[in-house]
Amino acid sequence: MNTRSIRFRLIGLYAGLLVLVMLLFGGYMHMQLDHFLRLLLQAKLELRTQQIVHDILPEVPKRGEAFVGEEIEKRFAPEISDRLVRITWDGGKMLYLSGAPNERSFVPEEVPPLGASPVQAFTREQALPGRSAILISTLPASVAGHDYVVEVGTSLAASNNVLRGLLLSLTAGLPVLTGLAIFGGYVLMKRAMKPVQDIIVSAQDITLHNLSRRLPVTDTGDEIAEMSKVLNQMIARLDESFQHVTRFTADASHELRTPLTVIHCELEAILRNPKLDVDLREALGSLLDEVVRLVRIVEGLFALSKLDAGQARSERVRFDLAKLAETTAEQMCLLAEVKHIALTCETHEPVEVEGDHSRLKQVIVNLLDNAIKYTPERGKISLTVRSENGSALLEIADSGPGVSESALPHLFKRFYRADEAHSRDVEGAGLGLSIVESICTAHGGTIAISNRIPTGCLAAVQLPRAK
Ligand SMILES: Nc1ncnc2c1ncn2[C@@H]1O[C@H](COP(=O)(O)OP(=O)(O)O)[C@@H](O)[C@H]1O
Ligand SMILES: [Mg+2]
Repeated sequence: MNTRSIRFRLIGLYAGLLVLVMLLFGGYMHMQLDHFLRLLLQAKLELRTQQIVHDILPEVPKRGEAFVGEEIEKRFAPEISDRLVRITWDGGKMLYLSGAPNERSFVPEEVPPLGASPVQAFTREQALPGRSAILISTLPASVAGHDYVVEVGTSLAASNNVLRGLLLSLTAGLPVLTGLAIFGGYVLMKRAMKPVQDIIVSAQDITLHNLSRRLPVTDTGDEIAEMSKVLNQMIARLDESFQHVTRFTADASHELRTPLTVIHCELEAILRNPKLDVDLREALGSLLDEVVRLVRIVEGLFALSKLDAGQARSERVRFDLAKLAETTAEQMCLLAEVKHIALTCETHEPVEVEGDHSRLKQVIVNLLDNAIKYTPERGKISLTVRSENGSALLEIADSGPGVSESALPHLFKRFYRADEAHSRDVEGAGLGLSIVESICTAHGGTIAISNRIPTGCLAAVQLPRAK
């Protein structure tokens, strides 16, 4: 998984935020519940203290001390309802103390007495060692000449249990909810990012050779659809400018061909004149050389512009590449012989390919031309054609000096010539390999140039075999 993808980052952010919100919400709920439970208990306890003070204590002079206990047990049943009731009078003497509650949540005798007599009503939380704390409301009162302190309390165990339960369900629910949210986010993001993925895949396929293709546009009307539309408009503009440049190069080279051919012929005709002055002949001779060079450049440019315009594969016929290699090698044998180079062609079986016969012949011509040009006299060139793993492989190996490592990555650039020093006295415009590459690519194939050990160059063309 790509941790830098928008999908991953958004889900991460969203899950992080969700956990934070849930933690804050859980914490807030816990706090509020704690607060309300306490308020509720406190209100009940205060009510009891008041009831005792108003209903029971005024009867003490008439009915005696025992009446307090009887009446409290009858009306409030503190043991059953898990309450503590403690009444002291006249400076701390115990008037009544309730019994141990049925739930054993505290022992009444263990609840520490108040230090000093309180002046007004208040509620406190009394910690008990080894047990839940108890909440106690205290009400001091003077009734019929006696000073009473009434305390009514209840254990916080029950409300603590409620709070603990809430905490537990929050803790258990958090990972489940987060997991669900991440899963939901993943599914949603995957669906949302699908058009982007489609655009990436389509954009990767668009090259200079198929600028007429366009990116998919979703009909969602969202930002992604808008982006595809804008990118498509940009590709259309690029296509138009590219076509413009190609057309211009094609027109320019086409227009230049005729006058150059005329100059070429005229110069040759003039040079045939035997009465020509020596100096003039020399000058015209070098002029002719330059014109020949110019013709070659213009021819190369014209060929490239046609390839750029998508004519690298105008016909689609099935033929034997091995046979084509043999006949081409035979035709170029003379060139090799001039330099006493041994040119051999090795083919063992027919290797059928499908494509443009004359363009693929051009590939072999350009590569053989390079091999012959850059291999010194009495060198060796071997051409082999074979099929390997379902593709056709054409290799041209020479015994020349090879190419410097720094030049290797640039060989297919237009007008690039490696090692200027040694290329200078060899004719060429640096367009041959660009043409080869264009044709190979248009046929769904590849071309690679590498150095041989100990010396020499190897040009390897790979083409898909005919089905
Ligand atoms: N067989 C080879 N041996 C050595 N160098 C080569 C060979 N083939 C190509 N090169 C280098 O690659 C450069 C580009 O080749 P190419 O495009 O055919 O241009 P050109 O042949 O017109 O110089 C050449 O200038 C040359 O430096
Ligand atoms: Mg060349």
